[in-house]
Amino acid sequence: MNLTLKVWRQKNKEEKGGLENYPVTGISEHASFLEMLDVLNEQLINEGKEPVAFDHDCREGICGMCSLYINGEAHGPDRKVTTCQLHMRMFKDGETVYIEPWRSKSMPVIKDLIVDRSAFEKIQQAGGFISVNTSGNTQDANALPIAKPMADKAMDAATCIGCGACVATCKNSSAMLFVAAKVSQYSYLPQGQVERKQRALNMVEQMDKEGFGNCTNTGACEVECPKGISLEFIARMNREYLGASIASE
Ligand code: SF4
Ligand code: FES
Repeated sequence: MNLTLKVWRQKNKEEKGGLENYPVTGISEHASFLEMLDVLNEQLINEGKEPVAFDHDCREGICGMCSLYINGEAHGPDRKVTTCQLHMRMFKDGETVYIEPWRSKSMPVIKDLIVDRSAFEKIQQAGGFISVNTSGNTQDANALPIAKPMADKAMDAATCIGCGACVATCKNSSAMLFVAAKVSQYSYLPQGQVERKQRALNMVEQMDKEGFGNCTNTGACEVECPKGISLEFIARMNREYLGASIASE
C-alpha cells in the first residue's frame, strides 16, 4: 500500500504545531498502524530528519499508552481496538491519513503525537486503590465469596486501560467514563468497601481539579472506547457520589 500521511508535528508544549505531509510506500496491509509509523520513522531517520514521537508500550491492547486520533477518530476507524491493534487493511491504497494527538486542555501535547496524561495518574492516586490488612492475618481473597454477576461487572469495569480516548472524543473533554470505570470496579467487590464512599468523593473531586468537563450523555466516549466500557458505569458513579455526599453531610 502507498499512503500520504498528514502527521501533527509539534516541538514541545509551548510551540504551536502543524500538519506535515509524508508519503510512505510498500506498507503491508497486515502491518499494524504503529508498524506503519515505524516504517515512516526509519525513512525519516535515513533522510537525516527527526522521527515522529508517539506513545506505545505493550502493542497488545493492554497498557493504554497508544493514543492517536486517526482520520478524526480516537484509535482510528475500527471498533473496540486500540491504535496498536489497528491494521492497515482498514485503509485503502492511495488514501490520505490524518494522524493527530488527543486534544484536551487537561492532556496537553508534549511533543508531536504524545500527550501528558498525568491528570489520569492523579485521579488514580486520589482513590484507585484498596487497603489490605498486611498484619500477617491477611484473609485469602479466594475465601471471600463473590456473586458471579458482581464479579462480571467488576471485571467489565476493570478492562479500562486508561488510554484517554473517552476524553479525546468527548465534546466536553469529560473524563467521566474513565473515572466511572475506576470507581465502579471496586464498588462491586468486598475488598473495595472500606474506602468506597471516600473513593467516589476523592476521585470525582480530583477529576474536577484537573479541569475535565462534565458528561452530557452524548455517548461518543462509549462508541470510541477500545474496551467497550458502558455508560452505565457513569450512572453508577453518579449514584456512588450522591450517596457518599449525603453520608458525609
Ligand atoms: S474508558 Fe475506555 S476510552 Fe476511556 S480511558 Fe478507559 S479504556 Fe480508554
Ligand atoms: S501500546 Fe499498549 S495498548 Fe496500545
